[in-house]
Amino acid sequence: NYQQTSFLTSAPDITALPPDTGIEVAFAGRSNAGKSSALNTLTRQNGLARTSKTPGRTQLINTFRLADEKRLIDLPGYGFAKVPLAVKEKWQKSLGEYLMKRQSLKGLVVLMDIRHPLKDLDQQLIHWAVESQLSVLLLLTKADKLSPGPRKKTLLEVREASLAFMGDVTVHTFSSLSKQGLTELEQVLDDWYGR
Ligand code: GTP
Ligand code: MG
Repeated sequence: NYQQTSFLTSAPDITALPPDTGIEVAFAGRSNAGKSSALNTLTRQNGLARTSKTPGRTQLINTFRLADEKRLIDLPGYGFAKVPLAVKEKWQKSLGEYLMKRQSLKGLVVLMDIRHPLKDLDQQLIHWAVESQLSVLLLLTKADKLSPGPRKKTLLEVREASLAFMGDVTVHTFSSLSKQGLTELEQVLDDWYGR
């Protein structure tokens, strides 16, 4: 029951994360892709993860407790132009380390604005995740911004493109505004958490 989720910790880097036990699922994506909004929609708690019109708002790794030994992680967004290069590179490095070394990490949800899917950094992240044997859900967010025809077209295009990653990659559309895709998101997470 995702409504039972509560805030656990804010970690400045991967060394400060909760103990690496149980099952963890992380939300990643470009700044402003809708990660925090999706977490709030999933948990039916509007103020749980902070959302913002200003990209790059989530600087810390925020962790949430779903149940005993089941966690959700809201990762800082990448690709925000105004962030200094040194900070970007440091984050890239720790993100890669997190994906490769975190034993409890079962799956990665990669959120992408449906109007700008599969940018270079998204693709790199998906490659890393597949290499690290993680299950991947590509969530095409802000689906309410497109009408049904173009929405379906983009979904099919991204599904087709996702085959190239040669991994356990699922693709769904999602909207925090209309709640479209919420059931599909829950089904994928249920599967990953073994519920
Ligand atoms: P960072 O933490 O900066 O990386 O951003 P984020 O990925 O957590 O994005 P956030 O959830 O803060 O949302 C960014 C902006 O997009 C906010 O203005 C949200 O209101 C808006 N937004 C998020 N989801 C949706 C959606 O499904 N539909 C629409 N129309 N807007 C959305
Ligand atoms: Mg955020």
